[in-house]
Amino acid sequence: MDIHVVAAFPEMVSSPIEKSILKRARDKDLVQYHFYDLRDFTRDKHRQIDDYPYGGGPGMVLKPEPIIRCVEAIKAELGDATYRIILPTPQGPTFSQQMAQDFLDVDNLIFICGHYKGIDERVMQYFQPDEISIGNYVLSSGEIAALVIIDSVVRLIPGVLNDFDSAATDTFQGEFVDCPLYTRPVLYQDMSVPDVLISGNHAKIAAWRQEMAQKKTQIKYKAEIKKPDLAASTIQPDSKKKGDS
Ligand code: 6GU
Repeated sequence: MDIHVVAAFPEMVSSPIEKSILKRARDKDLVQYHFYDLRDFTRDKHRQIDDYPYGGGPGMVLKPEPIIRCVEAIKAELGDATYRIILPTPQGPTFSQQMAQDFLDVDNLIFICGHYKGIDERVMQYFQPDEISIGNYVLSSGEIAALVIIDSVVRLIPGVLNDFDSAATDTFQGEFVDCPLYTRPVLYQDMSVPDVLISGNHAKIAAWRQEMAQKKTQIKYKAEIKKPDLAASTIQPDSKKKGDS
């Protein structure tokens, strides 16, 4: 998969991907990241990417030409490859595990990251991108939201995760949230690892994990009753992916 990030501050995304799983995915050649600085797609001496909003009001608006020029340049290189254009915005439908899964179906994801007050409406009119929010709060930039979406998609690419971090047992990937996990030491202050986990009885361990995952799921959804989207549509029973490690 190829991931393209069009942004006023591409370093906000390029820097974090240089660590951990996102970096490993690139090193294994399972994903390529491409960054585009909007200023490189301006044609004026001041390399201006934003301007005042017509009609007045606070904040600046990203101009349409550099964004459209940049995305058109990306599209021109794609040939027959499939793509989706994603525009992170608090106005879109809320991102979910199912959307992350669906994004795996294309060869290229193109992110348009807004900044300042917003983006000129004609960008949306021109590309009709997938507008996606990552939750009910406001971030200062689309770059951070794009990074969240990129992380959740890349870790689902077959081969990115090893057995240990396998996505198959993730919270939201199956029917339940993750079971509680423990590592050494057995006793920390007055808190000990449940006996069953050190019993060596694998059937009992599996049963305990299943039971605890169910309990945690119940508790979570009682606590988050105001989030029907999470309970109703985010959890996809049996939505196991192809090629999970
Ligand atoms: Cl996608 N962008 C911004 N700026 N704020 C957000 C968001 C996106 N999702 C939730 N809040």
